[in-house]
This record gives sequence, C-alpha cells and structure tokens, in this order.
Amino acid sequence: MNGLFITFEGPEGAGKTTILQAAAEELRKNGHFVLATREPGGIEIAEQIREVILHPENTAMDPKTEALLYAAARRQHLVEKVKPALEEGKIVLCDRFIDSSLAYQGYARGLGIDEVLSINQFAIGNMMPHITVYFAIDPEEGIKRINANDSREKNRLDLEQLHFHTLVQKGYQEVINRFPGRFRTVDASRSIEHVQKSVNEIIEEALKTIRL
Ligand code: TYD
Repeated sequence: MNGLFITFEGPEGAGKTTILQAAAEELRKNGHFVLATREPGGIEIAEQIREVILHPENTAMDPKTEALLYAAARRQHLVEKVKPALEEGKIVLCDRFIDSSLAYQGYARGLGIDEVLSINQFAIGNMMPHITVYFAIDPEEGIKRINANDSREKNRLDLEQLHFHTLVQKGYQEVINRFPGRFRTVDASRSIEHVQKSVNEIIEEALKTIRL
C-alpha cells in the first residue's frame, strides 16, 4: 500500500464527520490527492448490506449476524474503494472502520473485542489504518450535541442512550489500550476550530513520518 490510510473514530456527537471533510479540504488545498469516505461509502453491495442491518423490520437480527454484516460491508468498501485509492498513493480519510465494530459490537453489545477482531481480520487482512484519530468526548456532552435542538427533559430513552454511550466510550478505551501506537486522541469537547487544528497537525505529522 503506497498511500496513507487514516481512520476517524469516536462516539456520535463528537464532530468527526465535519472535521473529516474540513481536513480533506485542507489537504487538497496543499496539493494532496485525497479520498474522503465513510462506510458503506456509496458502494452498491455494501449499501445493500447496510440496508439489511438497519431495516426496522429486522428486529430478529442476532448481534453476531450484525457484526458479520458490518464486517462484510467493510470488506466490500475496502476492496472497491479504499484499496485502489491507496494503491494510487492517495491519502484516504475514512469515517469509522474496524474500531467502530470493536467498540460497538465487541464491547458495548457484549460480543467480545477478540471475537469481533478475529472476524474483522478475516475481512480486512493486513489493511489496518496507519493511524486512527480518536475524538474523545464525555458521553453526556456527545448526547447534548446530538439533541442540540431538543429541549425536552431527560426521559428513560435518553438515559438508556447515556448508558450505551458510556459503554461505547469504555469500549474505545479498551481498543486504544490494545493498539496504543496507532491511536492519536484529540479532545473533541473544544471548539471546532481547535479540534480542526489538532487534527491537521496529526495528519501533517503522519505525512512526515509515514512514507507515501
Ligand atoms: P452513522 O449514521 O454513520 O453515524 P455517525 O455519524 O455517528 O458515524 O451511523 C453509524 C452508526 O453505526 C453508529 O451508531 C455506529 C454504528 N456502527 C457500528 O455499530 N458498527 C460499525 O462497525 C460501524 C461502522 C458503525
């Protein structure tokens, strides 16, 4: 792989999607060739798999089936979109990748990080990201951002949401402990401008240290 593969991870409400687009713009301004993508990334087969995962009528879906389907969609997006871009020497910025499955399915849904890691290793082979930017945010703050226009009092569902977010955050922490060399953590509770600056610096550093 000739390019640079960077993934963005974190709970919902951390702002990673906005920052990813801005980071891609900045890199393009500086003359780099960039693929900004997200799973399932507009890949027809991966979109179809995603529809099965998210279909409201599929309430009988077993958590392991869900994890396998995420891994299958990931494989297709990787093969059709990410791998060719890396072979062309591009910088690939991908919104969510293997670590989302490890934190959400492996830890928060209780399947086990090792179990979910092994099916994902089958799916992606050795195509791990060079670096992963983790957007750290307090679960309550993340939920506040998601519900920014919603001034209702906290109800049972919001509390469930908070419990799940806390599990996701703990899951990511476990994953970071396993792959400390790959992760760069940014404090996502700061303003967009501050977070953006930190992310640009992380990418600049990666460009200097990882051969393109
Ligand atoms: P999405 O609408 O893409 O939201 P976000 O902007 O937060 O990325 O929804 C992604 C949801 O799917 C999010 O709740 C995380 C979840 N997810 C998993 O549970 N496992 C995975 O492997 C991936 C890629 C996503």
